[in-house]
Amino acid sequence: MKAIVVTDQTAGTAGMKLAERPEPQAAINDVIVQIYASGFVPDELAWPSTWTDRSQRDRTPSIPGHELAGVVTALGYGTSGLSVGQRVFGLADWYRDGTLAEYVAIEARNLAPLPGDIDFTVGASLPISGLTAWQGLFDHGRLRPGQSVIAHGAAGAVGSMVTQLAREAGAYVIGTGRAADRQKALEFGAQEFVDLDNDVLEDVGGIDLVFDLIGGDIGKRSARLVRAGGTLVSIVGPPEVRPVDGLAIDFVVESDRAQLSEIVQRVRDGRLRTNIGTVSTLDDAVVAFNSTTRIKGKAIIRVRP
Ligand SMILES: NC(=O)c1ccc[n+]([C@@H]2O[C@H](COP(=O)([O-])OP(=O)(O)OC[C@H]3O[C@@H](n4cnc5c(N)ncnc54)[C@H](OP(=O)(O)O)[C@@H]3O)[C@@H](O)[C@H]2O)c1
Repeated sequence: MKAIVVTDQTAGTAGMKLAERPEPQAAINDVIVQIYASGFVPDELAWPSTWTDRSQRDRTPSIPGHELAGVVTALGYGTSGLSVGQRVFGLADWYRDGTLAEYVAIEARNLAPLPGDIDFTVGASLPISGLTAWQGLFDHGRLRPGQSVIAHGAAGAVGSMVTQLAREAGAYVIGTGRAADRQKALEFGAQEFVDLDNDVLEDVGGIDLVFDLIGGDIGKRSARLVRAGGTLVSIVGPPEVRPVDGLAIDFVVESDRAQLSEIVQRVRDGRLRTNIGTVSTLDDAVVAFNSTTRIKGKAIIRVRP
């Protein structure tokens, strides 16, 4: 099968190559999915899981990409809950070969059915950003109606999902980002926007839940905005500064079938809009990932037409 592989940890996206790889075999509780569309997050080339297995053994050449939408073509021993021919989408294991390929072997529990009226390209854009926003707001942030939320990077892939899900849950949402992203953040539902290069973040006052995906100085200043009893949720590692009288949580997104179904249902009925920046083919993907143009939103690879 055709796949994009990486072998050199120091090379970044420049080291990605289109190659021929053996088709994966289904292990216990796996399914094989023929991939129609895949999602890629450039940061994953810096994650240890791209380079080693869970025992820290080298697993190169490895196939990056963790989001997928496609069709089940085979079931592993003991696999239940999904069937051959079913449309699915989901989030692949960080430590196994990923989704920039024509086929992937993946545990069935990491997938949910993809409704027939949702395009594969849309399906592949939802798992990481949708699940991260959902888990950060509701599982870790315990968001309640009427609370205030800072959605950093509100025009980006995760931030746009945070903004929409928080608004739907009855929160007051302050989006942040670059000056050029103001309009897009407001269109996703932010009620206010802070241009981090020109406005003063501290002017927003006390906040119940800060969703940090920037870290560094912005992360530290954000921690100080959390009001008593509030929460700082970070997806960019453990916060360097913790709220004085609140919680600080950092986490890595996990797949969850029920949450994937909640997310895709919202896309179907128009409550949630996905944020796709670019769509390329598998043949063109390496060039697309090495473009110097700023990608605004998810990078999707359409593997099959
Ligand atoms: N822990 C987890 O499970 C998890 C899950 C998903 C994502 N993440 C991480 O979360 C981060 C965001 O992911 P994403 O997919 O949403 O990325 P994205 O689509 O690039 O969105 C990030 C947004 O924030 C903006 N931004 C970043 N730094 C900024 C700054 N200093 N000032 C103003 N705006 C700034 C970006 O603008 P520019 O493009 O101009 O910088 C962009 O609009 C990544 O580091 C990713 O690895 C972690």
